[in-house]
Amino acid sequence: MRKLLFISLGCDKNRVDSEVMLELLEKNGYEITDDETEAEVIVINTCCFIGDAKEESIDTILEMAKYRRDGNCRALIVSGCLAERYRLEIITEIPEVDALLGTTAYDKIVEAANDALSGSHREYFRPLDVLPAMSGNRIVTTGECYAYLKIAEGCDKHCTYCIIPRVRGSYRSYPTEDLVREAEHLSENGVRELILVAQETTVYGTDLYGEKRLPDLLRKLCRIEGLRWIRILYCYPEEITDELIEVMREEPKICHYIDMPIQHVNNDILKRMGRRTTKEELTAVIRKLRDAIPDIALRTTLIAGFPGERQCDHEELMDFIDEMEFDRLGVFSYSQEEDTPAAGYPDQVSDRQKDEWRDELMELQQEISREKSAALKEHVLDVMIDGRIPEEGEYIGRTYRDAPDVDGYIFLDSNEELMSGTFVRARVTGSSEYDLTGVIEDEFA
Ligand code: F3S
Repeated sequence: MRKLLFISLGCDKNRVDSEVMLELLEKNGYEITDDETEAEVIVINTCCFIGDAKEESIDTILEMAKYRRDGNCRALIVSGCLAERYRLEIITEIPEVDALLGTTAYDKIVEAANDALSGSHREYFRPLDVLPAMSGNRIVTTGECYAYLKIAEGCDKHCTYCIIPRVRGSYRSYPTEDLVREAEHLSENGVRELILVAQETTVYGTDLYGEKRLPDLLRKLCRIEGLRWIRILYCYPEEITDELIEVMREEPKICHYIDMPIQHVNNDILKRMGRRTTKEELTAVIRKLRDAIPDIALRTTLIAGFPGERQCDHEELMDFIDEMEFDRLGVFSYSQEEDTPAAGYPDQVSDRQKDEWRDELMELQQEISREKSAALKEHVLDVMIDGRIPEEGEYIGRTYRDAPDVDGYIFLDSNEELMSGTFVRARVTGSSEYDLTGVIEDEFA
């Protein structure tokens, strides 16, 4: 068996590609290790979304290049978004890299590893309109109880700050029957929570079936017996339909949670971002969601310091956040990405100003979150156990209000032996900005 170290960076869509690659590698004679000193092959699946992500990817490649030069490693492979975008630069500037795989060629990973080990240096790329077939099997790296389901690839929105369409291509949905089969398979292997992801989930099916089919897909996934929660991420506000809201209300397995990035609310900025909504429309969709599903947890993301943003625009955004009180919120300082229209806009905002506005938004949200968490005291909520902190003797779980990695946790004391993926009913006894503490009232399957 040849030992292989796999490093997956970037978003959950990239993680799904990594999981497919891991399965293919393991099936074809590679043994996964987490020790870089013993790995014969090192694969890095990279991200290039914003400056920080690029830096992390490049630093990781350079760090691993040391093992290719002086250690056991005989093949260093770079895949994913950074490879797609900076193919030439990586090959010419980092000679330790043996093979590069583009975002539509990740299913060629075994060939790439075998070739690299036998000394041939190659690049594996396909046109960006190709959609690699769903493998059916993958090594889930998120533990046994939850998994991501990538329902589509690419994006057609072309927001002016975003590089994704250039590295992931246009929007391509996976066929519904393939997704249902994959979800059944995940559920048979113990997954209880399925998290639907894509660059945009709300337009699922438009390319393949000529209409939005997310509600139909959700209804089919809800019929899978072993699944208990289905969560939807990356919804575009303008694409949220009455039918989608209806299905969220009707189907008890669908979490009353929606992740809906809005980026800003000033109409002029939204226009220059290439967004297709106005502040008035955003307000209306938020009200509609809250009216229809009063306990819905709303998550959004914002960009601070887009070119041309003025103090008054920032204040308008602050007022909006104060009024709307999102349950969850993330803020990024605008990152000037080459080859995007916004990178060439005049009036770029200084890094200091961007970070200052970002911090102000985060501070405001902290207050809102603190109050929202405190209001949950004495509420009884369903919690999925994610794991245990052995030194503390505490269990970590999540409520329907918490997506993994980006949201909070609930910490529960218990002397009982609880497996990950177990559902309990817990009474909230305490709170901080983002997390809760509670006691278990009841355990159920
Ligand atoms: Fe990064 Fe590519 Fe995801 S750029 S955010 S890994 S789609």
